[in-house]
Amino acid sequence: MLNPSEFIKESIEKIKNEIGDEKAIIALSGGVDSSVCSVLVQEAIGNNLIAVFVNHGLLREGEVEEVCGIFEDRLNFVYVDASSEFLEALNGVEDPEEKRKIIGKVFIDVFEREAEKIQAKFLVQGTIAPDWIESEGKIKSHHNLALPRGMVLELVEPVRELYKDEVREIGLELNLPKKLVYRQPFPGPGLAVRVIGYLTEEKLAICRKADEIVREEIINNNLDGNLWQYFAVLTDTKVTGVKGDQRDFGYLVVLRMVASVDAMTAYIPELPWDVVRTISKRITSEVSEVTHVSLSISDKPPSTIEFA
Ligand code: XMP
Repeated sequence: MLNPSEFIKESIEKIKNEIGDEKAIIALSGGVDSSVCSVLVQEAIGNNLIAVFVNHGLLREGEVEEVCGIFEDRLNFVYVDASSEFLEALNGVEDPEEKRKIIGKVFIDVFEREAEKIQAKFLVQGTIAPDWIESEGKIKSHHNLALPRGMVLELVEPVRELYKDEVREIGLELNLPKKLVYRQPFPGPGLAVRVIGYLTEEKLAICRKADEIVREEIINNNLDGNLWQYFAVLTDTKVTGVKGDQRDFGYLVVLRMVASVDAMTAYIPELPWDVVRTISKRITSEVSEVTHVSLSISDKPPSTIEFA
């Protein structure tokens, strides 16, 4: 059994010894793993840790304000709005794997620029146990990372031995807001994996609005505790609808609401029909570009949780 206060005390000592007086950098996404690591390392080395929050233009509604609001005063925090750089690089790209690769590459570019500015020697990462157990422990615990322009950073992974539920316990002990600690996982490539086909500002905005409605309804109806993830996918399929007495031709949105323990497998739990119907009604009435909402009922496997 993990003793959170013991763990925090021991980690802080360990991190102090590892990093000493050098500078460290972390990519803070606002997810529980990178948030916990940021706060732990800040407690150990203070402002020698720079937490960089990159807006890649693929975040959810309100996410920038939320993450900045929580961390601006608590960390040596740098907000980088690189959304146009990402969206330009993604312009005209349809293939999901291609999108992921581009996002990864631009992210490293942006991040390396920040690491160079502060001459960081260490990179803090929120790796947790399932991340490396899946690769059969082949990744060494202490390793370096060479960045494309030549910087070499030594990795520090404070929660490497922990599982998600344990990271959450540490987050609570560190007084991180409950909303953040229990936040549903959100993939690194963000809405790029939930907008099918070409990415445009318009499609991202539609996906964002639909996603916000899903989140509001699930949270307001206290269903978030039973779901691993709940979100909206904007397909590139257009379907006929009718609004008022006018024929309409708009997007098909798919609702994906899954239960899981570790995302390796997932299933669709019983969902309260009234909530599903409310979500559908709200999306078609509040997001004018959408004419049709459908519900995904496929487990993982055979489907993956994300659509791309
Ligand atoms: P799939 O879609 O493979 O997703 O069933 C399993 C879990 O991983 C998340 N996911 C990602 N997380 N970068 C991430 O940080 C990614 O590229 C990525 N792709 C999927 C997904 O949200 C789910 O929780």
